[in-house]
Amino acid sequence: MAKIRVYNLAHELDMDSKEVIEILNDLDIEVSSHMSTITDETAELVKGIYAENQKAEAKTDTATEELEVEQNLTETEAKTNALEIETPITVKEFAEKIDEAPNNLIVELMNMGVMANVNQSLDEDTLELLAEELGVNIEFKSEAKEQASLRVGPEIEDKEEDLEFRPPIVTVMGHVDHGKTTLLDSIRESRVAGSEAGGITQHIGAYQAEVDNKKITFIDTPGHEAFTAMRARGAQLTDIAILVVAADDGIMPQTEEAINHAKAAGIPIIVAVNKIDKANAQPDRVKQELTEYGLVPEDWGGNTICVNVSALQQQNIDELLEMIILVSEMEELKANPNRLAEGVVIEAELDKGRGPVATLLVKNGTLKVGDPILAGLTSGRVRAMFNEFGESLAEAGPSAAVEVLGFNEVPAAGDFVQVLEDERQARDVASDRQDEKRQSELKSDAKVSLDDLYKQI
Ligand code: GTP
Ligand code: MG
Repeated sequence: MAKIRVYNLAHELDMDSKEVIEILNDLDIEVSSHMSTITDETAELVKGIYAENQKAEAKTDTATEELEVEQNLTETEAKTNALEIETPITVKEFAEKIDEAPNNLIVELMNMGVMANVNQSLDEDTLELLAEELGVNIEFKSEAKEQASLRVGPEIEDKEEDLEFRPPIVTVMGHVDHGKTTLLDSIRESRVAGSEAGGITQHIGAYQAEVDNKKITFIDTPGHEAFTAMRARGAQLTDIAILVVAADDGIMPQTEEAINHAKAAGIPIIVAVNKIDKANAQPDRVKQELTEYGLVPEDWGGNTICVNVSALQQQNIDELLEMIILVSEMEELKANPNRLAEGVVIEAELDKGRGPVATLLVKNGTLKVGDPILAGLTSGRVRAMFNEFGESLAEAGPSAAVEVLGFNEVPAAGDFVQVLEDERQARDVASDRQDEKRQSELKSDAKVSLDDLYKQI
């Protein structure tokens, strides 16, 4: 007799697995989890009950909708309450903005191990930490807005018929040392984690893996507290977040931060409870802690997928991958491979032999060797492309992460990338942007020296 997974049935009916399990329990049918299978006959029964329930619910729906509208409103309000901060900003300017005495900020900064004077500019990472310490809600002049403004020409909407399925982009996030890189390593079954100096990830890495003939793009992020901006960027790029929590350590500050990033980005979270091989592992304690953040595990009646894994000993990795595929299939991720590519710089550096090398994530379109390309303040022409195995590629479609040679200068991580019709246009735009940047730097330098002058008087 044909069988179906509780999970798939729930998906088909657009319900939580929990609700399906409830119906099954009411029918006196024992199922242990969303991964359990039931017969087609039972599935039909569930569908019937579901249809009945739907009818009954239709009556109360109008009231709920009104409530939801109200909730959405308060959410938007909360967002707009954040203070908009434009960087670069000095300690003094920031103090004025948040209505604090500059000296208090300097003391706070000292507590954080940052020695600063009132005229010093603070970077976004430090500002974010400082704001958190002071309990103020800040927001940097919307990166999204900024990025959109970096697109040359209007954003072209794709027609529905041009869209094709694209691989999911999955970002691994979590506290330092909880095993993110090891997990990605065990997924690709090679040993790259060991080669990282000190084991602490200091940049974002990306690669594509194939699971059951389906591609998944993985992005690794650092867990060290100093890399907030990189984690935020990782969360913005992604379709699904894998939250890695070490079972011997539980939820830690950067775990909490990762949860917040994922929630802000509105992406689904899959929890990998890692290091279950350790003698002092307490996976249930982790699950308990997750509930405090509104992430109630499925086997506890919620709808957060949690998988206990050991990245080191490669336990349950297949189950985790299966969950990633399941969740991504629900997301209906699509892009148009037949247009000029757009994407984002994940990381970039100057290689002695090869010149500027940038890892790009293609968000839409197909990137091809020979394409004139613009990224932030720099431009160029795609001279060569490589995948994570160093194999040379002629083109890279949506969701691909590729290493690109051919930029005239090193672009910045996070830069919006766009293929233009001709190289000269790309070069002109880049040089205009460089001029603008120089002008604004001159202005802010002048301001700082004036401040200094007043201080001396
Ligand atoms: P950052 O990138 O610095 O945030 O760290 P990370 O989360 O990438 O952690 P990483 O993968 O570098 O692992 C940190 C340490 O935990 C290493 O010594 C790993 O060998 C160890 N580790 C990772 N996964 C497991 C696991 O499943 N079991 C055990 N016992 N150790 C693990
Ligand atoms: Mg790492």
